[in-house]
Order: sequence, then structure tokens, then C-alpha cells
Amino acid sequence: MADKGVGTMRLDRFLAEMGEGTRGQIRDMAKKGRIAVNGVPEKRTERKIDPESDRVTVDGRPVLYAEFEYYMLNKPQGVVSATEDRIHTTAVELITERKRGDLFPVGRLDIDTEGLMLITNDGELAHRLLSPRKHVDKRYLAVLEGELPKDAARRFSEGIVLEDGTKTLPAELVKADAAAEEAVIVTIREGKFHQVKRMFEALGCRVTYLKRLSMGSLKLDEGLKPGEYRPLTEEELLDLRDGR
Ligand code: URA
Repeated sequence: MADKGVGTMRLDRFLAEMGEGTRGQIRDMAKKGRIAVNGVPEKRTERKIDPESDRVTVDGRPVLYAEFEYYMLNKPQGVVSATEDRIHTTAVELITERKRGDLFPVGRLDIDTEGLMLITNDGELAHRLLSPRKHVDKRYLAVLEGELPKDAARRFSEGIVLEDGTKTLPAELVKADAAAEEAVIVTIREGKFHQVKRMFEALGCRVTYLKRLSMGSLKLDEGLKPGEYRPLTEEELLDLRDGR
């Protein structure tokens, strides 16, 4: 989703940014004649190309350009939000149609937490959403084991003292309308480590299921099953950028 013309850039930088390998690997591929520009094999990886009008291929496969990419993922349980992991699948690996090699998840979710994850390479937007000074709302559905104290909502609204003595910012707690279970919707404005689980632990309850529903103006598309993703719409992106 390029906003405006990006001008020219070196062929090796273009291919590295699109996740085709390191500059050294790209040089090797070029030497072997695997890289072509507009149908002509190109060995000079330092040459300039226009990513928006030149057609670059690796082994005949077109490499498409995107300056920034933005995806909404419904993170399933069992997937980690780190960019690399030797054991578990990462959230970025689930974005199989990604063009760029430098995507990362905006903020962390625990391995057993489901729900909304924004995946992008836009560092400026990520910084704005994660900055502790911006207090961007994050809303979660939590299913609890144990009984909530009667004054739980009031205590959330005043901020909760966690087991290590730190106090959270005021948060909102409302009952979800799932009749049988102890399900609640909680909105927090910061992102301390395991924050939601620790807030409930401080009230004597255990979170048995946690799902992020929204982050700032961005709401999880309920049409996405766990593990599914889609690009953000233009409107979702504009709203996030505007801090709405
Ligand atoms: N709070 C938690 O405890 N876990 C998460 O994954 C997100 C918020």
C-alpha cells in the first residue's frame, strides 16, 4: 500500500526489503543469473530501479513492491508474537501473502491469548500505538475461574495494585452477556507484562481464556477465524493514524 511515489532505489535494497535474502545472498543470486529486471538478467545489484514501474523477478517469479503493509490477524492460541522463534509458529509467519521481509506485530499477546494483532512494518504507527504516554485503549474478552468480588468494577476503575506492588492505570470492567460463564470485557490503557491476567489474579480470579477485541479504533473483524488475516481497509488505517 504505497502512498506516494518512492523514487528509485538500489536493486539489492529493494530485494532485501521484500524479504528475498541478505544483500550477500542477493549478489550470489544475481551472479547466477536468477534476477532479472524487465525480463533482462541483471548482475549489477547496485543498479537503481524504480520499484513502481520496473518489473523485477527472481527465478522468473515477480517480486511486487509495497512500502508499507498493514494486516489484521486473529492470532490463534499456540502462536507467538515474537518475529522469530525456533519452536513455535510466529504471528508474522501466518501472513503468507506478505510482500515485505520486515513485518512485525504491534505489541505482544501471550501464547495462549487469541485475537486482534496488527502486523506491519510501519514503525512510526507502531510507536504511536504502543507509547505508554498515548494510553491507547486495548479491549479484551476474558473468561474467569473463581468469583469476582462485588466491588471488582470499582477497583478496576481506580487501578489495581499488582502482586509486585505496581499500580495499573484506571481500567474498565463490564460483564459480557454470556450467561453461564464468568465472562467479562476489560479495557486497559497500557501494556504491562501479562497485565490482564495479573489484574484478575490480584482480585483472586484466574483467566482461563483471553481474546483481544480491539486496539484504539481498530476492531477485530469477527469474520476472521483464529489464524486468518486480511489487509487493513483504507478507512481503518486512516482512523488509526488519526488516533481515532
Ligand atoms: N494481558 C495478558 O495478561 N495477556 C495478554 O496476552 C494480553 C494482555
